[in-house]
Amino acid sequence: MAYDPNKRPDDMARITTKEQADAFIAEQVAAVRAQVGDKKVLLALSGGVDSSVVAALLIKAIGRQLVCVHVNHGLMRKGESEQVIEVFGKELDANLVYIDATDRFLDLLAGVSEPERKRKIIGAEFIKVFDEESAKLQGIEFLAQGTIYPDILESIKAAEGKKAVKSHHNVGGLPEDMKMALVEPIKLLFKDEVRVVGEALGLPHAMVYRQPFPGPGLGVRCLGAITRDRLHALREADAILREEFDIAGLAEKVWQYFIAIPDVKSVGVKNESRYEGWPAIIRAVNTKDAMTATIEEIPYAVLHKIVARITAEVEGINRVLYDLTPKPTGTIEWE
Ligand code: XMP
Repeated sequence: MAYDPNKRPDDMARITTKEQADAFIAEQVAAVRAQVGDKKVLLALSGGVDSSVVAALLIKAIGRQLVCVHVNHGLMRKGESEQVIEVFGKELDANLVYIDATDRFLDLLAGVSEPERKRKIIGAEFIKVFDEESAKLQGIEFLAQGTIYPDILESIKAAEGKKAVKSHHNVGGLPEDMKMALVEPIKLLFKDEVRVVGEALGLPHAMVYRQPFPGPGLGVRCLGAITRDRLHALREADAILREEFDIAGLAEKVWQYFIAIPDVKSVGVKNESRYEGWPAIIRAVNTKDAMTATIEEIPYAVLHKIVARITAEVEGINRVLYDLTPKPTGTIEWE
């Protein structure tokens, strides 16, 4: 049978140890150097596990010939863009272009409440911003991508016409007409292997073991039409939830956990006065493949602390709800 570069060889061992990861890294460093020579490579660096591992691997292979573009669409979680700048821009001395496109995205999304429409706007605008930035750069011949093996398996399924509940536009899904050859050093790896490789490359544990975060980011958690004040409340409440999950040792036990805030206000009371605010909804689920999900049982003491902190610290929120619905019937995200 002909060699297929998109097929994981049957005899390829699962990478579980630092030694195996180091061997993989050495092999890929050589392969990337052979592929790109002295040319430049462009990478959309979201700060997610996959693009971060590709960035660290390519920095090791070709240093500043790699140009990382980080587009902040204004829908990142608290501290995420800052972490990209700190780790890649400072510690790894990457050739990093940082673009704060918050206003562009939020202006386009103003008044748009339909979830699929929101996803399309975010995906299309991301491509536009990335395109504009790459047009300013000279002499780039390669495009690096954090494709991993499940993505390849997923596109095979999609090509077979299996229907999805949501469009799952991935921000970072780049223009097909970009005339650049692809560099995809982790495309035969499963997620657990990408993490082992990431740690071997010296990336921070929190970055490598980060929970999955949808491409449209907080955009599909600020439910309905996004407003800046509700988005701000969401980002702050979500940061508190993550902090408390960390303290309680739940951060790596629960597959995905976050806050969603609907476009609804209720009457409450704060400082002895009537206080109309939004409810923050806690979602904390476990799953193997994201097709079905179960609810993590969070200890009441942890929940009480989260409720107390969010209602006290976050402007605009007067209630905290805990979503106990498994998937099905609820999807993991609310939109
Ligand atoms: P649902 O809500 O469909 O989510 O149960 C399943 C998993 O997919 C993530 N998700 C997305 N990821 N772009 C992404 O890259 C999207 O538009 C999107 N929508 C949902 C969700 O966070 C969960 O992990």
